[in-house]
Amino acid sequence: MDRVVSGATDHTEREQEAGLRPKTFDEYVGQEKVVANISVMVESAKIRHAAMDHVLLSGPPGLGKTSLAMLIAGALGSEMHLVSGPAIEKKGDLAAVLTNLKPNDVLFIDEIHRMHIAVEEILYSAMEDFRLDILIGQGASARTMQIDLLPFTLIGATTRSGLLSNPLRDRFMAHLTFDYYPAETLAKIIAANAVKLSMNLSADSKFEIARRARGTPRIANRILRRVRDYTLVARKTTAELADVQKALQLMDIDELGLDSMDRKILQVMKQYYSGGPVGIEALSATLGEDKQTIEEVYEPYLLKQGLILRTPRGRVLSEEATRHLESR
Ligand SMILES: Nc1ncnc2c1ncn2[C@@H]1O[C@H](COP(=O)(O)OP(=O)(O)O)[C@@H](O)[C@H]1O
Ligand SMILES: [Mg+2]
Repeated sequence: MDRVVSGATDHTEREQEAGLRPKTFDEYVGQEKVVANISVMVESAKIRHAAMDHVLLSGPPGLGKTSLAMLIAGALGSEMHLVSGPAIEKKGDLAAVLTNLKPNDVLFIDEIHRMHIAVEEILYSAMEDFRLDILIGQGASARTMQIDLLPFTLIGATTRSGLLSNPLRDRFMAHLTFDYYPAETLAKIIAANAVKLSMNLSADSKFEIARRARGTPRIANRILRRVRDYTLVARKTTAELADVQKALQLMDIDELGLDSMDRKILQVMKQYYSGGPVGIEALSATLGEDKQTIEEVYEPYLLKQGLILRTPRGRVLSEEATRHLESR
């Protein structure tokens, strides 16, 4: 299914996304606090001629964690090695990655909260002492072998920092949290990316995309590409507000920027649970959607917009959400 808020999972989109990734810190718009922290860490590392401290980037998908990690590696003049946490199945696989790093390289572990615990454990000494402790043999003959590593920087990315184990969390020098982008900031990103896509956008269409992109640059890019296709096919030279509205309608994105799954969550809460309170388990079962996905991808924005409220007894639908459902 063409999920609007899901991660960039298919090959074509990853390629297109690569084309729109900011290439310099100047092109990286917004998240000022995160960037300010990173700038100091990068500069300090350069002055010390040492590896930058380990940093944890957390926040919902599509807000620029991977892009920022790439910029950091670039600024450090280091190579970035990207791995996905849950995809590393054996300790040996991670050990191989770690022993192949060159001095001051960046290791980017995406979805680090989903790493297997046995694999995660070898990170503790690797992060703290640049050393691998590997257990060889079993039972009474078991012994630990130590391998020295070259200094490196671990950048962890997570959509749920709360799910990180304490030992892992404690080994990051900085924890930086990404927030949804205000529409004005998204509008700047959209304007820059329209240029990269050789598009003409009217001012009001730019703001309409920004307003409906769920505070997320990745979604803004997706809408932008659809608008481009739509205007191209219509043989128009400039995308007007009406074109944007048509594209959004085709994508099933509503006035509040919610997509069909967002609305389904709200509808299920209203119809099956009379607006709540409802627990995440029950909601996930009724929706037939993975609990983690609801919590990491959908719910944060619905909470942020005040459409869902959290209470000790579970989630409840806000009055605004009820009004929104009735208005459609
Ligand atoms: N701060 C930003 N400035 C400009 N573009 C951004 C920014 N953050 C994200 N993007 C755009 O959104 C896309 C997705 O960002 P990405 O870094 O892959 O997000 P994440 O890793 O957090 O899921 C990027 O390809 C880029 O085009
Ligand atoms: Mg990413």
